[in-house]
Amino acid sequence: RKDLIIDCDPGHDDATAIFMALAHSDQYNLRAVTTVCGNNTLEKITKNAHYILSVVKSEVEVAKGPETPLINEPIISAEFHGDSGMDGPTLEVETTSKDSDKSAVELMADILRDAKEKVTILALGPLTNVALLIKAYPQYLHKIERISLMGGGVCHGNITPYAEFNIYVDPEAAQIVFSSGLPIVMCGLDVTEQVEILKEDYEYLRKHSDAGRVFAELMDFYIKGSPAFGATGCVMHDPCAMAYLIDESLFEGKQARVHVDLVGETRGRTVADYESHEANTFVILKAKSNEVANVILKSIESL
Ligand code: BDR
Ligand code: CA
Repeated sequence: RKDLIIDCDPGHDDATAIFMALAHSDQYNLRAVTTVCGNNTLEKITKNAHYILSVVKSEVEVAKGPETPLINEPIISAEFHGDSGMDGPTLEVETTSKDSDKSAVELMADILRDAKEKVTILALGPLTNVALLIKAYPQYLHKIERISLMGGGVCHGNITPYAEFNIYVDPEAAQIVFSSGLPIVMCGLDVTEQVEILKEDYEYLRKHSDAGRVFAELMDFYIKGSPAFGATGCVMHDPCAMAYLIDESLFEGKQARVHVDLVGETRGRTVADYESHEANTFVILKAKSNEVANVILKSIESL
């Protein structure tokens, strides 16, 4: 069982990935959820993180990152995630998760410092916190097993023609992470757009459990944004990065040297050089779509 830290900005698909991690407690011991300014304000997405954990009565510690990306101003994505950053659920829950008195980066560093075995990081939002960790605590980085991240895309963008949202919000942070030398698995739009969940796929979960109901209500809202991206179902961006950690055999990828464009109209674009002898990232390009969707649904079902 590996220790896991989830850095995220919930977010409908972040919430799904958190549920998946908790459903796979035989494989992963979720040690902390850290929040990063992404989909919405830090305050709102942190509240959402507590909510999701509390739906399944988790006592995991939640720590906040800074209110802004390293250089950019925050970019709110209310169009796809709603005013709360995670619109949809109607279930009321009592908070069981713990509000950390440390910052996101301090909590990550403490977990790494004390870890007997290497720790996995799942990064589902802009890479601000991970970049700050890399810069502030180089002495603990050898304790990181790998970083599985949702971000970027070698094909195209979703917030500009070139850039994907998570990388676009904090490109400087992303460049720090890609050039860190740490083992990185990148689930970008190339692969995440291959995995969709349709309404008829998740409907059976609605009456199954609290987590099932919350998941169905999250998806009911999230699916409304799909046509804007030419999708019919709910596109499972963040869950792909967790599904990879659960079962790598469902994915195919290639080693590449990835860098992030920082200037001009392509700012925030991830560029992959597959010929480089200095590969820094395993770029996931293909998923067994139905199987990955099944892992997601079965995870929620098991909670
Ligand atoms: C990414 O942006 C957010 O809206 C999602 O949660 C995901 O992390 C997709 O571009
Ligand atoms: Ca996210």
